[in-house]
Amino acid sequence: MDMKGKKAFIAGIGDDQGYGWAIAKALAEAGCEIIIGTWAPIVRIFTNSWDNGKFDESRKLSDGSLMNYLKLYPIDASFDTPEEVPEEIRENKRYKQYEGYTVSEVAAQVEKDFGKIDFIVHSLANAPEVKKPLLETSRGGYLAAISASAYSFVSMVKYFGPIMHEGSAAINLTYLASERAVPGYGGGMSSAKAALESDTRTLAWEAGRKWKIRINAISAGALGSRAARAIGFIGAMIDYARSNAPLQKDLKAEEVGSAALFLLSPAASAITGVVLYVDNGMHAMGVAVDSPTLIEQEEPALT
Ligand SMILES: NC(=O)c1ccc[n+]([C@@H]2O[C@H](COP(=O)([O-])OP(=O)(O)OC[C@H]3O[C@@H](n4cnc5c(N)ncnc54)[C@H](O)[C@@H]3O)[C@@H](O)[C@H]2O)c1
Repeated sequence: MDMKGKKAFIAGIGDDQGYGWAIAKALAEAGCEIIIGTWAPIVRIFTNSWDNGKFDESRKLSDGSLMNYLKLYPIDASFDTPEEVPEEIRENKRYKQYEGYTVSEVAAQVEKDFGKIDFIVHSLANAPEVKKPLLETSRGGYLAAISASAYSFVSMVKYFGPIMHEGSAAINLTYLASERAVPGYGGGMSSAKAALESDTRTLAWEAGRKWKIRINAISAGALGSRAARAIGFIGAMIDYARSNAPLQKDLKAEEVGSAALFLLSPAASAITGVVLYVDNGMHAMGVAVDSPTLIEQEEPALT
């Protein structure tokens, strides 16, 4: 896959453990130039770690060079314009040092710095009440989850669409809890992912007609990223997938990276509005084959 001369804006890179990083690496391997959007409150931690060489091992590309980025922008994808940023956020010490971190301002800055770009990647999610079951989630918590995790993608497409080349593409990351009950994935996150997938289809139509760009989603399997560890039971979900998915292996972030590279590339030029499962086939299962209830039956089909 040759992506030389292309530029991608990837929102949601905070360290070298998540899907955003793996997607950046897959694109960089193919020669694409990387522009990063990092959540404003953690920009300092990320850039310090980068500058101190903490990511050097993970930055290594197959030709021995280190992955680089053109520029990093602090972003808070919960806000579209500066007028929307509440006083307490604006004055917060983790935000105060930055300006222009709302989605519209970042898009304008990217255009000023680089002109038109080719790809946008939305690899971010947040739900303040993620540990609460839906029945215990407050209205505010639910709306915050939808705002940060679903509307943020609508906003990115809205503001970056006009600065994307014709034939270019956007992707987001979703999760099976949008369509199946996954106990513990709370705080309205499952609802946010359902909205994100629906929006993927509607935006495919609207942005396809308006700017001739493609919009797709990757429904990724469980990965022990920082965000997933914050939910609390990610280790168990990884074990569960290893025991029950058709492909009995750990899902690597790089496997999502290479699927993202495909979806963004011209190889997927007729693909838009899809949710592509990259989860070792977990989504296809209707039963947990390691369930004691099934194992006790000693059915040969389950071995
Ligand atoms: N890890 C999994 O098991 C898994 C499975 C399926 C889908 N996903 C999805 O993959 C995407 C990336 O998550 P990850 O698991 O790689 O974790 P991650 O921690 O690497 O990425 C999430 C990023 O979102 C950022 N973020 C949070 N709120 C933000 C905001 N308001 N504005 C801008 N950035 C914000 C965080 O700082 C973080 O860098 C998310 O959409 C997540 O829901 C993850």
